[in-house]
Amino acid sequence: MSMDELQELVVEFRKTLRELSRSGCTTVPDAPCAPVVEAGPELSEAVPVAAAEVPKRVHSLGAIREDIGDCQRCALASTRQHIVFGCGREDAALLFVGEAPGAEEDRRALPFVGAAGELLDAMIVAMGWTRESVYIANVLKCRPPGNRDPKSEEVAACSGFLAAQIQAVAPSVIVTLGKPAAQLLLNSREAMGKMRGVWQDYQGIPVMPTYHPAYLLREPAKKREAWADLQQVMGRLQSLGIKPE
Ligand code: URA
Repeated sequence: MSMDELQELVVEFRKTLRELSRSGCTTVPDAPCAPVVEAGPELSEAVPVAAAEVPKRVHSLGAIREDIGDCQRCALASTRQHIVFGCGREDAALLFVGEAPGAEEDRRALPFVGAAGELLDAMIVAMGWTRESVYIANVLKCRPPGNRDPKSEEVAACSGFLAAQIQAVAPSVIVTLGKPAAQLLLNSREAMGKMRGVWQDYQGIPVMPTYHPAYLLREPAKKREAWADLQQVMGRLQSLGIKPE
């Protein structure tokens, strides 16, 4: 067995234990209960998340980052300083998806570490969680120049990696921040105001779309609605027996 295969097994085993513990199990059943890990397409054959052709095979976050390498799959490679992969717990129950790195994120190679990140941190703490106990990723791993909106070819080149990250973390709930993340995961063209606050589904995982923290910094009056969305998330996690970690 290769190190990669062993790593995948460990990831699967950890998830299974977490699911069992969350469903109230105190002993491990005799029969294997981890999903069968099937051979699937290589990660570098990344496809758009919403294409439902998400790789069947679960890769570890380390393997996904390795596959991204010094990515040259779209034009953003020529303007970025750093690839911003994502950060947080590999087995987080709660996963946030933003849009793309900004200037500060590009400089530090970490997601949400600028002004919007400060607000996101405060939102996470208000929910009773911490930045370290959740997972944070973006639709794009590289900064669009001037923070312009992601182009469809950039999303197409990058979104398979987000799909793989979601598979690796296997969160119990996803919160999308802003329109590009919600539209991508939900394969929707709806406006943010229509999508937010309504539970959706991505590959069997409940998704709560809410406003992007950068938008909330520009429109503080919308914070009330965002907080209502996050309260729904807290309620959902509680009903699943998941406590903040
Ligand atoms: N905005 C995002 O969508 N993601 C980041 O990482 C930073 C700002």
